[in-house]
Amino acid sequence: MQPPPSAAPPPYGPPPANPRTGLALALAAVSCLVMPVVYFVTAIVSLHDLRYGHGSEVPMWLVAIFGFALWLTALVLSIRAIVVSGVVGAPRAGGVIGVILSLLAVVTAAASAFFSLFFLGGGAHGRPLRVGGRPRLAPTRGDPGWSGRDPLPDVTALTPGARARCAARWTRDAREEHASIAAFARLSLDLLALGAPADLVERAQRAGLDEVRHARLSFALASAYEASPVGPAPWPEAAVSGPPEGITDTLRRVALESLVDGAYGEGLASLRARDERSDDPAVSSLLALIARDEAEHAALGWDVLSLCLERAPSLAPALLDAAVSIAARAASPIESSHAAAVASELRERLRRANAAPHGRGVGTGECPLSIASGAKTMAP
Ligand SMILES: [Fe+2]
Ligand SMILES: [Fe+2]
Repeated sequence: MQPPPSAAPPPYGPPPANPRTGLALALAAVSCLVMPVVYFVTAIVSLHDLRYGHGSEVPMWLVAIFGFALWLTALVLSIRAIVVSGVVGAPRAGGVIGVILSLLAVVTAAASAFFSLFFLGGGAHGRPLRVGGRPRLAPTRGDPGWSGRDPLPDVTALTPGARARCAARWTRDAREEHASIAAFARLSLDLLALGAPADLVERAQRAGLDEVRHARLSFALASAYEASPVGPAPWPEAAVSGPPEGITDTLRRVALESLVDGAYGEGLASLRARDERSDDPAVSSLLALIARDEAEHAALGWDVLSLCLERAPSLAPALLDAAVSIAARAASPIESSHAAAVASELRERLRRANAAPHGRGVGTGECPLSIASGAKTMAP
């Protein structure tokens, strides 16, 4: 009698390597390696645009989504490698390598994002119009009424991609400058409500006219890069006045806005415009204008802040907390150093005014930007 043929040889020795595990690990490794390349290219493109003076607006949401997708890919493939290794008995080292690759992906993405943000610090953010404490911007439409008679940049040497990035950057800046017109109109009314001196009211009105000029020139650049008119659309929020306030609430709101949006925000806008370079006369002249005007607007913010403190010294703790909150939210080196300078200047002004609260440090660190008249918050 013949013995039955054996179906398979006995499983002596280590199990054979699973080719699917190897492939999954290889793809995970590629994902980890691709991520820094993507961020590096992003940074280079940003620097290229800066050098040629056409802004540095790489869509951050696109970078973030792409980086997240790559990280997710590495994670899924690594988990799959672990599962496959468990099912078919592949060496456990495969699963360990998968975990290491996933951790490497997270660390790489975080480091790359930091450096990308470091390079992407451009763009100005002046005084915003706040509705319910939140910054608001007008939508845009194809309106030539804001860009018809201003100097235009030379766009002949730009690639379509560079033009699109420049159009996006200057459209965003134009919307922010446009919103600042409404913000200074609101500040003028607030100063009248507070019985402020004529000098401050006049400076607020002049600042509004400065913002008209900034917005017009920025919309002109956006239109040139877009190759079609870009202008603000109807914006009903600009006419929203909010609920009635008492003088105490107005003083608190105006003081916080003057610190966050004026002293810090407009000072930062001035620094960013000053640091940006352009070979194009239309761009460089606008940057120089913005750098000069925004510094003046920041000085106006400090003076309005001083007025509020004169009227209400008890605002000092809230302002110190606001300075701490600004520093905590700083997302780039220029923001951090400027936030530190603003906090230092605030302490000095409080010391001179002898308005610093006794027995208190520089604040609690909690976000103080809630306004007494309702659940409103302000983000720098
Ligand atoms: Fe401006
Ligand atoms: Fe401004």
